[in-house]
Amino acid sequence: MALDLAGELESRRGEGVSLFDRHLNSQLVQVLKTIGFDIDYVRGEGPYLYDAAGLRYLDLLSGFGVFAVGRSHPTVIAALEQVLTAHLPNLVQLDVSLLAGLLAERLVARMPDLEKVFFCNSGAEAVEAAIKFSRTATGRSRVVYCDHAFHGLTYGALSLNGDEVFRKGFAPFLGDCVRVPFNDVPALERALAGGDVAAFIFEPIQGKGVNVPDNGYLAAAQDLCRKHRTLLIADEIQTGIGRTGRFLACEHWAVEPDMVLLAKALSGGFVPVGAVVMRREIFNRMFDRMDRAVVHGSTFARNDLAMAAGLATLSVLDDERLIERTAELGERLIAALRRRFAGDSLVREVRGKGMMIGLEFGPPDEIRLKAAYALMEKASRGLFCQLLLMPLLRRHRILAQVAGPNMPVIKLLPSLVIGEADLTWIEDALADVIGEAHKLGSMWDLGRMLVSQAAKARAGAI
Ligand SMILES: Cc1ncc(COP(=O)(O)O)c(C=O)c1O
Repeated sequence: MALDLAGELESRRGEGVSLFDRHLNSQLVQVLKTIGFDIDYVRGEGPYLYDAAGLRYLDLLSGFGVFAVGRSHPTVIAALEQVLTAHLPNLVQLDVSLLAGLLAERLVARMPDLEKVFFCNSGAEAVEAAIKFSRTATGRSRVVYCDHAFHGLTYGALSLNGDEVFRKGFAPFLGDCVRVPFNDVPALERALAGGDVAAFIFEPIQGKGVNVPDNGYLAAAQDLCRKHRTLLIADEIQTGIGRTGRFLACEHWAVEPDMVLLAKALSGGFVPVGAVVMRREIFNRMFDRMDRAVVHGSTFARNDLAMAAGLATLSVLDDERLIERTAELGERLIAALRRRFAGDSLVREVRGKGMMIGLEFGPPDEIRLKAAYALMEKASRGLFCQLLLMPLLRRHRILAQVAGPNMPVIKLLPSLVIGEADLTWIEDALADVIGEAHKLGSMWDLGRMLVSQAAKARAGAI
């Protein structure tokens, strides 16, 4: 019998949690249940998710940044449908794909001096490729990366990860990877001084923590890299494709990397894809002879659906002026949040660019709350943020996340198509939950319960 997907989704609605628990990640199921995030979403459109009861949620997670053009964008769907019905000669492998050529042409047109593109299937794969390209292009092995960096979870990418939470239990890592503090020019200078570093990889705004560099940092990093003939790799997997109000976040500081890594939003929210955009010489050092024409690659890279999704995404970005819109609305949202929480002792900083915004929290002034806050943060750094995120979702139907492990920062990463009314939605909802946190009440009781649950879980663990 032919698969009736729609019928099956209907007849087995509600079984997602039990199936996931049985056959996939039960710990994730536990986490979602504990924090009340186990919502049965049934539809996604634009910046919104809808649950089975038809309630609308504002998604400020956007699939970790995948849904820049919004969910179910009709232009992306139309492009994918065209590919599916055209019976194109997909993945011939020993051929050249016109769709890949078109997407590469449109990507390099947005990045002066970068002429070549290597396509892959994900962000981490783009990072893996970048490590190989830089080693083979420079003949050096050392790669420098930043504290708190996140470049993905495959082995090469994990070797450049600046958080122990992700690394614990997985050693040994790739050799010759050197960590430096983010935003620290002298430390980078020391790391590059030996003239033996292949590449310095950085996120223009770090995803974990939404850490924005000081104004001169990236320009200084570029100068140092040029001086020591080290390649400058911008991981724009999260910050790229308009997220910060420019096509690349590097543009805010007029930095021109030797390699730019893209993924996430390029997918149009549908088809995994990654891209390494680089200078011609770097590419040609890897693919330098006919017998090395396939020395690096991946079976599904350049597949027609991914290329079409990328083309459609770029087209939506231009047609809807999403980059300009993001710059404008993002600035307004950041300014509004700063105004709203100026003088609020819990909110230490509102930072970010475009639609990549972080709110950092700290102990409140009120004596009794200070003790409760300290208890939460002692049990687990970032737990206080989770206490805000729970009512934000349940009461205000806004989905958001803590910006990274062990940090009291909430991250807002909406789709770039959010509207004016959504800005008010965000502002009012945050004001309500933060306002509640200033009262000793049910929110803190819930926090104490989570702390005790976590302690029990730890005691039970081997
Ligand atoms: C800056 C950055 N680089 C790399 C990655 C890894 O991408 P992927 O999850 O597609 O492997 C991520 C994912 O969150 C990211 O934010």
